[in-house]
Amino acid sequence: MNTANTNGTAKVRSRGLEVFYGEKQALFGVDLDIRSGEVTALIGPSGCGKSTFLRCINRMNDLVDGAKVNGSLTLDGDDIYHREVDVVQLRAKVGMVFQKPNPFPKSIYDNVAYGPRIHGMAADQAELDEIVMTSLEKAGLLGEVKDRLQESGTGLSGGQQQRLCIARAIAVEPEVILMDEPCSALDPIATAKVEELIDELRDNYTIVIVTHSMQQAARVSQRTAFFHLGKLIEMGDTEQIFTNPQQPLTQGYITGRFG
Ligand SMILES: Nc1ncnc2c1ncn2[C@@H]1O[C@H](COP(=O)(O)OP(=O)(O)OP(=O)(O)O)[C@@H](O)[C@H]1O
Ligand SMILES: [Mg+2]
Repeated sequence: MNTANTNGTAKVRSRGLEVFYGEKQALFGVDLDIRSGEVTALIGPSGCGKSTFLRCINRMNDLVDGAKVNGSLTLDGDDIYHREVDVVQLRAKVGMVFQKPNPFPKSIYDNVAYGPRIHGMAADQAELDEIVMTSLEKAGLLGEVKDRLQESGTGLSGGQQQRLCIARAIAVEPEVILMDEPCSALDPIATAKVEELIDELRDNYTIVIVTHSMQQAARVSQRTAFFHLGKLIEMGDTEQIFTNPQQPLTQGYITGRFG
């Protein structure tokens, strides 16, 4: 039934994905489909490979010395690890938001304009202004910063900085947004704002979020994947994973027996 639903087709698909850091194997034969128009949450105990899986999708692991990736990983059916893939283009299509907000030490405006400038997305200043304003608006930040666009991005509050980083990611019109514990450095109010934003963004982007908060996974995601010791143990509708897990390991984790 799912296969007939085009809205639910896999945007990102992994088959037999393995990752090694030198001798150490971090992922074992991961088969995972990530659908468009949905938020997919990756959960599991520390060290189980959530960030490793996430970083494969935009090839951030390329930057890690001794990291090796085997198996297949595709974006819209195209091999992400094909030797002719332009990694800069890939990372424009697959944006990333990190655990700690990391705005550049530049103005709010220049933070958002950075990607569009690099990729030559605007023909003139007016177009660049438009991209910056739209991105800030989509990130739910425009109202708070429109009168101080030339002030430094690092002067914003933590929650505002994280939304600025989301605006920066959105500005290059990505298709997929990867978020690695995007709220773990934020207070509950800022967290609620970012969660609300994630829900709004899912219509237009495919979102994958790593979180240690099961409440957050339940609030923001439609599908949840549970990892344990480098293996994907179970993947399903978020509600099913949290109310009726099929695997004892998943059950143990969500009821807090380990993790
Ligand atoms: N750069 C690296 N070099 C060597 N080993 C690494 C590296 N990055 C991760 N690992 C190892 O790979 C395994 C998976 O790590 P990963 O960071 O993906 O886990 P995680 O699920 O994101 O954990 P956490 O919840 O603590 O962020 C761990 O055993 C970790 O020690
Ligand atoms: Mg991690």
